[in-house]
Amino acid sequence: MKLWAGRFQKETDKKVDDFNSSISFDARLYREDIEGSIAHAGMLADCGIIDRAESEKIIEGLRGILADLEAGTLAFDADSEDIHMFVESVLTERIGDAGKRLHTARSRNDQVALDIRMNFKKEIRAVQKLVCKLLSVLVKKAEENQRVIMPGYTHLQRAQPVTFAHHLLAYCQMLMRDYGRLSDCYRRMNELPLGSGALATTTYPIDRTITCKALGFDAVMANSLDGVSDRDHCIELCSALSILMMHLSRFSEEVILWCSSEFQFLELDDAFSTGSSIMPQKKNPDIAELVRGKTGRVYGSLVTLLTVMKGIPLAYNKDMQEDKEAVFDAVDTAKLCLDVFADMIETATVRPEKMRAAASGGFINATDCADYLVKKGMPFRDAYKIVGKLVALCLELGTDLERLPLEKYREVSDVFAEDVYRAISLETCVSERKVLGGPSVESTGAQIEMVKAFLKEASGDE
Ligand code: ARG
Repeated sequence: MKLWAGRFQKETDKKVDDFNSSISFDARLYREDIEGSIAHAGMLADCGIIDRAESEKIIEGLRGILADLEAGTLAFDADSEDIHMFVESVLTERIGDAGKRLHTARSRNDQVALDIRMNFKKEIRAVQKLVCKLLSVLVKKAEENQRVIMPGYTHLQRAQPVTFAHHLLAYCQMLMRDYGRLSDCYRRMNELPLGSGALATTTYPIDRTITCKALGFDAVMANSLDGVSDRDHCIELCSALSILMMHLSRFSEEVILWCSSEFQFLELDDAFSTGSSIMPQKKNPDIAELVRGKTGRVYGSLVTLLTVMKGIPLAYNKDMQEDKEAVFDAVDTAKLCLDVFADMIETATVRPEKMRAAASGGFINATDCADYLVKKGMPFRDAYKIVGKLVALCLELGTDLERLPLEKYREVSDVFAEDVYRAISLETCVSERKVLGGPSVESTGAQIEMVKAFLKEASGDE
């Protein structure tokens, strides 16, 4: 029989029960639901709303339910509408009348708002931990590849030489921002909705600061209508995860390119690649492709939530039950992707000779050649034109700037001397870019230190 049977003349249609039910996915919140109820029961006794003895009986009963669920000796009842109803009904079954007092001064709207915040706070820390795992892998690879020259690209055309370390460290910056966005989201999420009641609080003399402290929140939510109907934190979390996935997706795209025969910059470990059922020669970067593909799911969750929330009048409406699956899926997907992506990069083999070869011979040092003339006193625009002529000459002769004889250089401009070859060597191009943020060893060294300091501080967040 339904909790609300008194008001109704008929049983709910079976289809409606199934349609309404959320236990198949909100069972995942059992721990938070029970912890929240324990804090609530304690507070009710502290405020003299229920007897201390009854409160203790409730708390003991709730602990028993938690233990049994974790041990697998108590199964979720698919006929319960949601996790909140399930816990309450098992409690009443087990301890009798005292169990019926737990819901005093509280509503399920309260409970669901509380449970998801508690759960997402934990999930944020778990995602952040995996962001750090990936950062550690990247910073280690960056350290090993500080002198490995590779082409830097714009428009996917070879542009200027960088190093593999510099390239990896760019992703470290993105991931550190992702971490920061998750922390911001955590901070705003860390306010207690419990005590909002169904929407307008309660006439019982509850003390929300007690549950706030017991459950580890920073503050009590200031407005009860907002308390039960706010899902900004769900949207913010999916937004932070979408940006994170966008970064992983860009990185995946590069891994896929780098693993192609055309690039061959990277070789994935056999354990982190897959074969083809028909083409025996194939070794496919499936993980990177799946990460790129799964990015769409996470964006989907974000759009789901934005759309669900956009037309909802205050306060709680059942539409909001749709929040959980979207966030759970986004969180699970991001965690899965971060974990396997980090292992894939860690076990991959870098091919410095292929990167070096791709960087040479393609006029990637043309800017440096112009800069050489500028350093000898020529205005940049004139130097730019001269190097343009040299590139055309090289193309005509089928050679490149490194191999073009000095007399050819001097036919175009007599400013050129023997030292041009050193100035345009890829090593010089990279090592002279010592500016903050650049690819030189000094500069990437500083970036590596920055990431390491970040990781050290982040380990204190857990
Ligand atoms: N299962 C509901 C949800 O996930 C819990 C809150 C239900 N409240 C209500 N008044 N129907 O949102």
